[in-house]
Amino acid sequence: MKITDHLADGPRTVAEVARATGAHESSLARYLRLCAMHGLVTKTDNGGYALTEVGHLLRSDVPSLRGFVIAVNGPGMTRCWEDVPAVLRTGEPTSREKWGLEHWQYYEEHPEEARSHAEGLHMMSVEMADGIAASYDFSRFVTIADIGGSPGTLLARALRAAPKARGILLDLPGAIIHARELMESTERVEFVSGDFLDTVPADCDLYLLKHILLDLDDDRAARLLENCYKAAAPGSSLLVVDWVMTSEPSFVHAMDVECMVLSGGRVRTTDELIALLADAGYTRIAERPLQGFERVPARVIEAVRP
Ligand SMILES: C[S@@+](CC[C@H](N)C(=O)[O-])C[C@H]1O[C@@H](n2cnc3c(N)ncnc32)[C@H](O)[C@@H]1O
Repeated sequence: MKITDHLADGPRTVAEVARATGAHESSLARYLRLCAMHGLVTKTDNGGYALTEVGHLLRSDVPSLRGFVIAVNGPGMTRCWEDVPAVLRTGEPTSREKWGLEHWQYYEEHPEEARSHAEGLHMMSVEMADGIAASYDFSRFVTIADIGGSPGTLLARALRAAPKARGILLDLPGAIIHARELMESTERVEFVSGDFLDTVPADCDLYLLKHILLDLDDDRAARLLENCYKAAAPGSSLLVVDWVMTSEPSFVHAMDVECMVLSGGRVRTTDELIALLADAGYTRIAERPLQGFERVPARVIEAVRP
């Protein structure tokens, strides 16, 4: 309903916000009273409401966390949790049972929710993509393929750092639509709709896999890496960016269980990621720095296709 957008220019009474959003006035009043308790708005002297600094983070008309908040509370991310016991009994994710679809196929069938999800992915990726671009030399590549690359946040930064390179962004058809709309620049980018478990674009000299392997079980991860290996030219690079499991308390433990429930994937240790790459045939596997994320359980691992 974009309530926060209607408060962006200054305080409004509940009646004014109700008129602007088409809300039921007394229900909206109760809702805003709760939002005030959570610090999203503050009550003004005339009984209206003003946005707080946190509230501005939910606006749709500025870079914000709105997409992320909608996506993590949407059915695609929440309904599968209704059947955690089934996951624990079978070891299978619940999305197939719940929706009759794989997790990412669910978003293909629910474009509005998928759009929020893509906006959320973009905002959550900006800082890390900047960190990768600041730490890794993209300028030596001619063709950079971002596999499962929507919404294109990393590819955009890689291409900015490699002015002579062209990019290929492969993703599922619905996700490609969001990438076309959300990427800051689509110059030098070819969008390819497809399933990376079938095939990936051939003869690129860098393949990016950012936050992809964690969604896949070991068999699927191996199949994707085999596809990348078969498609890649000898001497080309593969860059894996992923959260990694450590023994320290952190969000990755929750993320690991989330992957288990939603898609059947898992957050792997650095050694497990390296082993997957080695099993696929890659050589010269090495960790690369990730500026600004030194204390975060995230890794950038480069591997070479011999
Ligand atoms: C966790 S998101 C990561 C997106 C992006 N790489 C990033 O880090 O911001 C996973 C992406 O993989 C895509 N994806 C999932 N399964 C796929 C498949 N079988 N073929 C192609 N793309 C797929 C999803 O649509 C989604 O865009």
